[in-house]
Amino acid sequence: MRILVSGGAGFIGSHVVASLLEAGGRVSVVDDLSSGSRDNLPPGAAFYETDLTDPSLTEILLREKPEAVVHLAAQPAAPRSLADPCFDATVNITGTVNLLESARRAGVRRVVYTSSAAVYGDPLYLPVDEAHPVQPLSPYGASKYAAEVYLATYQRLYGIEGVTLRLANVYGPRQDDAGEGGVVAVFCRQLLAGETPEIFGDGEQTRDFVYVADVVSAVLAALRAGAGEVLNIATGEGTSVNELLRLLQQVSGRKAQAVYRPARPGDIRHSILSPQRAKAVLSWAPGYRLADGLRETYAALESGRR
Ligand SMILES: NC(=O)c1ccc[n+]([C@@H]2O[C@H](COP(=O)([O-])OP(=O)(O)OC[C@H]3O[C@@H](n4cnc5c(N)ncnc54)[C@H](O)[C@@H]3O)[C@@H](O)[C@H]2O)c1
Repeated sequence: MRILVSGGAGFIGSHVVASLLEAGGRVSVVDDLSSGSRDNLPPGAAFYETDLTDPSLTEILLREKPEAVVHLAAQPAAPRSLADPCFDATVNITGTVNLLESARRAGVRRVVYTSSAAVYGDPLYLPVDEAHPVQPLSPYGASKYAAEVYLATYQRLYGIEGVTLRLANVYGPRQDDAGEGGVVAVFCRQLLAGETPEIFGDGEQTRDFVYVADVVSAVLAALRAGAGEVLNIATGEGTSVNELLRLLQQVSGRKAQAVYRPARPGDIRHSILSPQRAKAVLSWAPGYRLADGLRETYAALESGRR
């Protein structure tokens, strides 16, 4: 299968590219390297250093003729979207439309798009399922949702099969400390460097941490099933930030007393997504226990593996 991965040099994208290559796919990557790195890319993928909004994207898709696109490239940080909502919308909305339009012209059959739990905003109930109202609390949440709507529109208009995966807090090797689910990456780095971990608020806020390998298997499943679906990709379990630090101390064998800072304005108290629909539609389930995923993440950082 010929697949084009946007954002393939990033954290999640590079794991997706590696798995697609392992499965025998012919993979091309479009990435402007704004937060990704060429070092993340496994050998064997064709690479185009191109901005998602660039008109030349169409020529790339016409040349590569992918059967499917996995669309991960994005401005991925909610704080940046608050500071510069126009930039966020340019990348996440205009960039997505440019990609969809290029995909249409190149005859792409399916687009798998990674959206975010940020579209839900402050949960009205837990776990949040896909019927929960969409009430983003950041321009990032709004732009990720707008791209979902465009994807569905392209399916209705042109028959391109679209699958939206709303990811919870993803963690794993190669994650930058700045991303959405960055707390695992931040704690790992702080523990390894012998620094004092910082917790914002009382640490009892919960998140749904899903391991990157489980996200990859969901993306691979979505290349085969789930046309027209919007699916949460999550574990359905909440872990508090205090508990996360305790687990990481166990895994790393490093003890460090956390300092507590004032809660950050706008931080959601609890975020847990239900993966039931993805389980039914994709025959997918998260395979990693948190402690095992954390062990792999910490070991990769410690050994300097990419
Ligand atoms: N990490 C998470 O916890 C999480 C949670 C929910 C959703 N997501 C979504 O998953 C996707 C991947 O996120 P990630 O965590 O791997 O982030 P990342 O920053 O590691 O990856 C994004 C990639 O897109 C590239 N990119 C950014 N702007 C671009 C542009 N204009 N043109 C071309 N390439 C561009 C970056 O260089 C980078 O390689 C994003 O769409 C993000 O919104 C991530």
